[in-house]
Amino acid sequence: MRNPENFWDGAAKKYARSPVKNQQAYSQTIERCKAHLSLNDNVLEIGCGTGSTALLLADSVARITASDISGNMIEIARAKEPRAENVTFVKGTAFDDTFEAGSFSAVVTFNFLHLLKDIPATVRRANELLKPGGLFISKSTCLAGQGVFWPILLPVMQMIGFAPYVKFLTIEELEGMITSAGFEIVETGDYPASPPNRFIVARKT
Ligand SMILES: C[S@@+](CC[C@H](N)C(=O)[O-])C[C@H]1O[C@@H](n2cnc3c(N)ncnc32)[C@H](O)[C@@H]1O
Repeated sequence: MRNPENFWDGAAKKYARSPVKNQQAYSQTIERCKAHLSLNDNVLEIGCGTGSTALLLADSVARITASDISGNMIEIARAKEPRAENVTFVKGTAFDDTFEAGSFSAVVTFNFLHLLKDIPATVRRANELLKPGGLFISKSTCLAGQGVFWPILLPVMQMIGFAPYVKFLTIEELEGMITSAGFEIVETGDYPASPPNRFIVARKT
């Protein structure tokens, strides 16, 4: 399997062209996310892809640093019009030294955590980057126990380089990783419900 940076660099152009799969679920995600953000918020997005979500959240917060491991994704994000003055796109991961501990009031990440081999490490890092009381807002696909389709198809797609690493998570497992990293969960939802794409708002305790 290719490393994540190479995989997503290769996928970026096609990802940018692909329409949102479920517009209703996406709108619900944006709406619930905005409900927890305010114009004072300094937000970090991890795994921002081609930047559409950061640009949609921009008018609800003070500023967003939207980051992604893939330089090609970031290049596409930077070229998007209309731009938002308060959004900065940067190539990198959550572990970049340029991000200061305790400097963000919200860390957000969409369609991302289930792609990581070490989810707890990234959730702990999100906790470290947040101010006391800061919010970690995420949406992640939970594929464990969802039938045989994905467990059969994904390994084949991964073998031929058509799919990235994906962790098969249960909702309970994912929420356990978040609470164990020093958060209390304040809101959840499934947008969409099947397979569950779990939306979680968690506050740094
Ligand atoms: C499925 S896409 C989701 C993009 C965007 N958040 C969305 O909802 O459309 C996953 C993104 O995570 C990025 N990514 C993968 N591993 C990463 C890592 N360790 N750190 C930062 N970004 C990563 C990929 O480059 C890709 O843009």
